[in-house]
Amino acid sequence: MMTPVWVQLSYLIAAVLFILSLKGLSSPKTARLGTLSGAVGALLATVVLFFSGIKLNNLIIIIVAVIVGSVIGLVAARQVKMTAMPQLVALFNGAGGGAAALVAVVEYLEYGQGATPLFLIATVFTVLIGGVSFSGSIVTYLKLQELMTTRPVVIPAGRIITILVAVLTVASAIALIVTPSTLLLVALLVLSLIFGVLFVLPVGGADVPIVISLLNAFTGLSVAASGYVLSNVLLIVAGTLVGASGTLLTSLMAKAMGRPLTSTLFGAFSGTTQGGGSTGEERPVRSAGPNDVAIMLGYANKVILVPGYGLAVAQAQSTLRELADLLTARGIEVDYAIHPVAGRMPGHMNVLLAEASVPYEQLKEMEEINPEFSATDVVLVVGANDVVNPAARADTTAPIYGMPILDVDNAQQVVFLKRSMRPGFAGIENELLYDPKTTLLFGDAKDSLTKVVTSLKAM
Ligand code: TAP
Repeated sequence: MMTPVWVQLSYLIAAVLFILSLKGLSSPKTARLGTLSGAVGALLATVVLFFSGIKLNNLIIIIVAVIVGSVIGLVAARQVKMTAMPQLVALFNGAGGGAAALVAVVEYLEYGQGATPLFLIATVFTVLIGGVSFSGSIVTYLKLQELMTTRPVVIPAGRIITILVAVLTVASAIALIVTPSTLLLVALLVLSLIFGVLFVLPVGGADVPIVISLLNAFTGLSVAASGYVLSNVLLIVAGTLVGASGTLLTSLMAKAMGRPLTSTLFGAFSGTTQGGGSTGEERPVRSAGPNDVAIMLGYANKVILVPGYGLAVAQAQSTLRELADLLTARGIEVDYAIHPVAGRMPGHMNVLLAEASVPYEQLKEMEEINPEFSATDVVLVVGANDVVNPAARADTTAPIYGMPILDVDNAQQVVFLKRSMRPGFAGIENELLYDPKTTLLFGDAKDSLTKVVTSLKAM
């Protein structure tokens, strides 16, 4: 059946809304509008389908599924904490890949025999990539939620097994195109799922965000291919947009981590990302009270604030800003140093500090601020760890080796606000905590900052 012109026009409008959505998402100022534009596009595309004249079988089941999905999505998005957003994205992304794979399976079972080679290739591609994206995303979710270890998991002979599974997956995909069979289809689906797990297991915690972004691109590609299978142009456009933007984001994030993507994905196999663990021995550290920290800060000329994941957990952004304002009022030069992967999602610290209305000019990117640390009296590290860990420079066995860090160890004094001696996301010890120039103020960042602010006001 020819798609009616009004339906084609509606799809065109939805596609434009998706493109505007991506454009809007490229700046914090327009991100909300961008999200809205994408949602309106998706709603338009869904509603149009019901009135497009296409015969929809199982209408009741479709409507029930739409309601159930909408309720789950709404509740999950409303309840999720800002710090758990990447896990939610990983789950939703996995659901997208899994759905595309299932659609392709059904289409294959229905029309596989006697279909054109191009249709078969697109169907098989969707099953393969969608399956990898689904199981891989589940593993990234488990890692980010810390339901499993965040360190690289290397199974014995992992490299050989992964290569073997990859070869078998591709072989079954080719066989399926040449000789359609249900058994081969099941084999391809199972092998894709296994490959997704093997693909993500060796990735270290600190690199998981990059893999989420890559899997996101995979989902986009599988959705685009499923658009071909279903002869739906809008799915092809939307999938291609997700695939392209996901690929760009992956490459930008890998660049920010200072390593080629191949070392992120396959580093653990070569045994280069296993070190950096705790020595297990108790070593002395210098800790201080809020009063001492207030004195150190209050009599400095230049202070740099380094926010990290712990700032988001403690929701201490407004208190940090209050501290910065107090110091500035005393004539002290204050800047915020922003590491590209501080927190748990791209731009996390920017969003957090924007919530506290910290002026954008005070936020300095890593390249800009790094030369300034040597002329800084005190660096206050608030709930950050991996992004200031010198192991990234020196320890070739550390999972974060090669990632550029904020050079806080060049400053005169470093103060860490954290609750314990526990490591950061990458699960490795930070030598800087034991450095003679380092002082630790133990406690929840918000409590500690509130006490420092009170002391400072009394000075
Ligand atoms: P982390 O290395 O994870 O360190 C966070 C620190 O905050 C920990 O030392 C923790 O120590 C402390 N902390 C947690 N809750 C706290 C609280 N309530 N009060 C005070 N301190 C608290 O964080 P980071 O330096 O921001 O580095 C980010 C890491 O996450 C990197 O490894 C990065 O690759 C990874 N990652 C990044 C992203 C993106 S894209 N930004 C996404 C996922 C993962 P205590 O437990 O002792 O308090």
